[in-house]
Amino acid sequence: MHSLMPTIDDASDVPVYMQLYVYIKDRIGAGQLKPGEKLPSVRLLASLLGRSRTPVALAYDQLVAEGYAVSRPRSGLFVADITAHLPEVGQPAGTGQTPPLSSRPQLADNRALPPRAYHAADAAEADYDFGYGAVDLSQFPHGRWRKLVGDCFLPENGRTLLYGDYQGDAGLREEIAAYLLHARGVRCSPAQIVVGAGTYHSLDLLLQLLRPRLGEIAAEEAVNDGVKSLLLQAGVPVKPIRLAPDGIRIEELRATSAQAVYVTPSHQFPYGMTTSIAKRMQLLAWAKAQDAYIIENDYDGEFRYGGKPIPSLQGLDSAGRVIYLGTFSKALFPSLRLSYLVLPLELLADFRAMDHSYDQLASPIFQSALRQFMRAGDFERYIRRMRIVYGRKQDAMLTAVREELGERAEVIGQGSGLHLLLRDRDGRSEEQLVAAAKSARVLVYPTSIYALAPELAAPGTVLLGYGGIPIERVGPGICRLAEAWGR
Ligand SMILES: Cc1ncc(COP(=O)(O)O)c(C=O)c1O
Repeated sequence: MHSLMPTIDDASDVPVYMQLYVYIKDRIGAGQLKPGEKLPSVRLLASLLGRSRTPVALAYDQLVAEGYAVSRPRSGLFVADITAHLPEVGQPAGTGQTPPLSSRPQLADNRALPPRAYHAADAAEADYDFGYGAVDLSQFPHGRWRKLVGDCFLPENGRTLLYGDYQGDAGLREEIAAYLLHARGVRCSPAQIVVGAGTYHSLDLLLQLLRPRLGEIAAEEAVNDGVKSLLLQAGVPVKPIRLAPDGIRIEELRATSAQAVYVTPSHQFPYGMTTSIAKRMQLLAWAKAQDAYIIENDYDGEFRYGGKPIPSLQGLDSAGRVIYLGTFSKALFPSLRLSYLVLPLELLADFRAMDHSYDQLASPIFQSALRQFMRAGDFERYIRRMRIVYGRKQDAMLTAVREELGERAEVIGQGSGLHLLLRDRDGRSEEQLVAAAKSARVLVYPTSIYALAPELAAPGTVLLGYGGIPIERVGPGICRLAEAWGR
């Protein structure tokens, strides 16, 4: 008999697969299931529980996605070592196996800034635009938003037309805190939230706040280009940290003297990997030992298909080292220009003491509308609906890529978010791929612009967003792309 004896509460609103996943995850976290221990087969556990195999398989998929378990072909599923290779406090830097930092790329802060390249372009230029910044508005409750925004202009709501609280609408912050706890596992009080006017504004504020503590800053080797601009303008050296399939290479991070690191652990941008639980624990241990901060950008964590969203890194942090950054640009729509920082208490005190050069930049009108949209439960309903919409779009894209491009293109980063990458197996350059597509009136986008140093760019890889393109155009668009790239 296996030591796993989960009890399932059929009266609970929590789905069976989620109860199972939480049960096993908690036992791994508590050390009751040891690294290397084999989990019962799906069939065995299902029969022990008297259930179908589906919830067990779903629970196992989630555990693997988050790195709590590893699957070994033809052997089964094993508990991962989630505390593996935790650094000794005071471990000398540079003891990992990667080359010494001096031989790796470092950046000055005066590089030319790339143009913002991913925004869906002018439709007139193309028949199929796989631009990244756009979202699907087919399900958007236009009428409801018209009413919520319109109500701000009623005479009795005159306050909404004045300057707002510097940290953001107090009621909206309450809604965000409740949502983040429930949906993303983020633990914070509304007082720790600072509402901003988009990710870059929030990050800019944050970098101003951190600046006095920074001698250098580390970041994933490839980051969104707006983030890249801000990091390069921060006035301190930026250390790119290379990525492995389970997140950043911790040994490279340990070899830096950075006081902060920028990461996208739920869904790396642009490569799409998820940081495993083992790496998350190592990152947290690094931050604690170095008194450093982790900047967690969770820009599209809501959208994961075929499993539940990956919980935030912030929720695992008990030492106040994670600064969580989120946006409504993907979950709702980008012109809303609403984002938020969740500050650890230590930084909150600094934030309040800081000299602020401008007032609240996020419009109180949209903050008020969003507060009501969230309070009524409409936001979570909308997210649930959009998860299905985007999941179907991604399926349509994957099917078309498989059928039209087959072995010629490797898909990178599927399973979540609103984009994926295609790497050409015929060895063509990114420029050739973008140009060939464009000549057939299909827009696909470069990925090299995201690399923090040119030598870190992935060769022959382009980005395709599917947020904005209607689902019925995905297949024909990929078909045209395959023709343009030569079948
Ligand atoms: C990594 C990442 N963060 C954030 C955003 C969104 O930024 P904003 O909140 O400014 O719209 C994007 C872009 O679309 C992104 O790729």
